[in-house]
Amino acid sequence: MGITKICCIGAGYVGGPTMAVIAQKCPHIQVTVVDLNEARIAAWNDKDLSQIPIYEPGLDVIVGEARGRNLFFSTDVDKAIDEAQIIFISVNTPTKTYGKGKGMAADLKYIELCARQIARVAKDNKIVVEKSTLPVRTAEAIKSILDNTGNGVQFQILSNPEFLAEGTAVEDLLNPDRILIGGDSTVEGQKAIQSLVNVYSNWVSDEKILTTNVWSSELSKLTANAFLAQRISSINAMSELCEKTGADVSEVAKAIGMDSRIGSKFLKASVGFGGSCFQKDILNLVYIAKSYGLNEVADYWEQVIIMNDHQKRRFSDKIVQTLYNTVSGKKITFLGWAFKKDTNDTRESAAIYVADDLINEHANIAVYDPKVSTNKIIDDLNYLETRTAEKNENRISCFTDPYQACHNAHAIAVLTEWDEFKTFDWQKIYDAMQKPAFIFDGRNLLNGAELKAIGFVYHGVGA
Ligand code: NAD
Ligand code: UDX
Repeated sequence: MGITKICCIGAGYVGGPTMAVIAQKCPHIQVTVVDLNEARIAAWNDKDLSQIPIYEPGLDVIVGEARGRNLFFSTDVDKAIDEAQIIFISVNTPTKTYGKGKGMAADLKYIELCARQIARVAKDNKIVVEKSTLPVRTAEAIKSILDNTGNGVQFQILSNPEFLAEGTAVEDLLNPDRILIGGDSTVEGQKAIQSLVNVYSNWVSDEKILTTNVWSSELSKLTANAFLAQRISSINAMSELCEKTGADVSEVAKAIGMDSRIGSKFLKASVGFGGSCFQKDILNLVYIAKSYGLNEVADYWEQVIIMNDHQKRRFSDKIVQTLYNTVSGKKITFLGWAFKKDTNDTRESAAIYVADDLINEHANIAVYDPKVSTNKIIDDLNYLETRTAEKNENRISCFTDPYQACHNAHAIAVLTEWDEFKTFDWQKIYDAMQKPAFIFDGRNLLNGAELKAIGFVYHGVGA
C-alpha cells in the first residue's frame, strides 16, 4: 500500500521532532501531529519559530520547511485518525503514581485511551505503530482493545521504538544508528512492516532498518536504555572510588574506553543521569522482571537506579560538608537546570534533587539556565511535594544573567553541561563572590586548573 497520510498522537519531545523529520524527508506524505494539549499545539503552530514548544538544535528550520506544506499540528484527533493509513502512538508513558505498581510500572492509561479512540473512529484498515516506549507485550493489549471495540476493520500493530536522545534529536533522526520495526509474522503483518520500512527508506539505508517480532522490538527499547544508564552508573560508582584513591575518573574512562570491546561513549561521570526515560524505563523493566518472579534480574537492574540516587545525594552532601557543614542562609548558584545541554527539558533532572536537598539545609538557590523558564523550575520543585510552594519560592531565585546569578554566592554548582558556561568571564565571577569561592562541577565541564589559578576552590566529580 502506498502511504499518503500519517497521523501521530502526541506532539511531545518524540512526536514533534520525529514527525517533522518524516515530513521533511517524505514530501509526498501528509503528516498530521495531534495532541489534547491545546497550548502545545498552538505553540507548534506559532508563526515565530523560536516559540515552538521544544528546543532542539535545528528543529526550527525543519518545522519551518515542512509546516503548512505536508506537516500539520492540530487538536482534531478524530479527523487525523480517520484520514491516516498509519497512526503513530507517541503519548507519554510515565511511571505510575498510584495503585498497583506505584513508583515502578509504566502508566499505560494514555496508551489505552489512544487505542479506544482509534477503535471508535477508524472506518477502514489501519496500521497502528507503537512509538512510545512500552512494556514488552503491550501490543497484545492494544490489539485486544482495537479488535473488541472497533468497527470490524483490520488493525496491524507494529512496534517502532524511538532511539533519539534529546539535545541531538534532529541529528539522531536524520542519521539513526538503526530503525527498529517489530511486527507479526503473518502475511498481513509483513505487509504492514513493509509499509513502514518504505517510509523510512526515503532517507535511511536498508541495512540500517531492522525488522523483528513485536516482543523483541518492545523489549529492545527497554534493554537499550537499561544498558546505557548502566554504563553511567558504573562509571559514577568508579568516580566515588577515584575520589578516595587519587585516581582520576576521566583518565580511567579514557583508559577503559580505548578498549574496543568497551568503547568510549557514555562514560562521562556526572552528578547523575536525568531525563524522562532512563529511570522510568529501568523501573518498568524491574517491575516486569518481578512480575515474572525473576527477582535476581529485577535486583540487578534496580541497582542502576540506586547508584544514580546515591550519586545525586553524594553531590549535595559534598557541597554541605565542604561549606563547613552549613549552607543555611548561603547563596548557592546553579548553572544549569535542564537534565542535559541543548534541551529545555527538565524531567528527572539531577538539579531538582540537588536543589531539594540543599533547600532542606536552608540554602538559598539561585539558578541560571539559558533555556529553562522560572515557572518550570518552581513547578519541578513543587512536584516533589517536599514543602509548600510558598517555601520553595522563598528559597529559589532565577536569573537571566549568569553574572547576577553568581553575584555574592558562596558556591557555584554546575548541573548541566551547557557549552556557554565555559566561555564565562570567570575572573569577573570570582571577584563578585564570597570567599573562599567554591565551584562544584557536576559535569567536569570547566577547566579546573585555570579556575584554581584564579583562586577558586574547585571540585569536580571523580577526581
Ligand atoms: P511528552 O510528554 O513530551 O509528549 C506526550 C504528548 O502526548 C503530550 O503532549 C500529551 O498531551 C499527549 N497526549 C497524551 N495522551 C494523549 C491522548 N490521549 N491524545 C492526544 N494526545 C495525548 O512525552 P515524550 O517525551 O514525547 O515521550 C513520549 C513517549 O516516547 C514515551 O513513551 C517515552 O518513553 C518515549 N520516548 C521518549 C524519548 C525522549 O527522549 N523524550 C525518547 C525515546 C522514547
Ligand atoms: C536517552 C537515550 O540515550 C535515548 O537513546 C533514548 O531514546 C531516550 O533516553 P535522553 O534521556 O534524551 O536519551 O539523553 P541521554 O543523552 O541518554 O542522557 C541521559 C542522562 O544521562 C543525562 O542526564 C545525561 O547528562 C546523562 N549522561 C549521559 C551522563 O551523565 N554521562 C554520560 O556519559 C552520558
